[in-house]
Amino acid sequence: MEAVVYLNGALVPLSQARISPMDYGFLYGYGLFETMRAYKGYVFRVEKHLARLERAARALNIDLDSLATLEKAIYDTLEANHLSNASSARIRLSVSPGQEDLASGSPAKGGPTVFITAKSYTPPSPDVYRRGFVAMVSRVHRSPRSPASALKSLSALDILLARQEAASYGVDHAILLNEDDLVAEGSSSNVFYVNDRTLFTPAEHSGILRGVTRDVVLNELAPSLELGTKEVDVALSDLLEAEEAFLTNSMIEIMPLTIVADRRIGTGRPGPVTRRLMKAYQELVEQSLIRREGTDTP
Ligand SMILES: Cc1ncc(COP(=O)(O)O)c(C=O)c1O
Repeated sequence: MEAVVYLNGALVPLSQARISPMDYGFLYGYGLFETMRAYKGYVFRVEKHLARLERAARALNIDLDSLATLEKAIYDTLEANHLSNASSARIRLSVSPGQEDLASGSPAKGGPTVFITAKSYTPPSPDVYRRGFVAMVSRVHRSPRSPASALKSLSALDILLARQEAASYGVDHAILLNEDDLVAEGSSSNVFYVNDRTLFTPAEHSGILRGVTRDVVLNELAPSLELGTKEVDVALSDLLEAEEAFLTNSMIEIMPLTIVADRRIGTGRPGPVTRRLMKAYQELVEQSLIRREGTDTP
């Protein structure tokens, strides 16, 4: 069955979706995206994803539709692809300022390009969660001094290069350091380590994307499990010598990080605090689903 996509206000079969070659996103990678996970048709923390998108769009002078319109478009795309009851789906929303005006070289007045896809998502197998991710340290660096590091930018070249590097090493993930050789983030994740029931994660000034899942861990799960949190400068040795470590993103949720640069972290197995957080995340998703069933929201 052909995928249905949302493009600028309409749901159309993918084969009929057209974006101009003059689109700013294509010409310069100028634009933003969000990747969200839906559970039984419920998009987890959609409001946080859209708030991040709105903030970033303002910084890039992209004139977005209202967040209510975007949220409806996301749910309509899920429904059009028969994913409203799917156990797990992946939604990608991409925006650019629209076409370039050839004369001025700046975005034309036609309005932004908004493109949404939804497809079924199979998370890594339980075996992978039981062994945890193996990561290498990438030669790609994040720049804390560049505002682009904090954006989920369409020009994801650094991230893709780091992922290719990890694949060519035969490992699951890459860790990106910043220009000061401190740990910034993963090749599509935020990094945490655990010592003495406290969660440590690179501070915003490390050159990271502030992940929605990172925020859920710091501000929802950690307080409920009475874990301390510290946003700090992280040296690679801090990570390697920690009791436990894990990675977060909206698709893989909380993934134990057990080997980095051929060194075992802690016992080399997912630690107790990480496992407790993984369970608490699942419970939070379940609770959100139950709460949503009691309301009229989509
Ligand atoms: C570079 C980078 N950092 C962090 C994250 C985690 O973000 P989120 O938790 O919002 O999915 C991602 C997500 O893909 C990412 O690409």
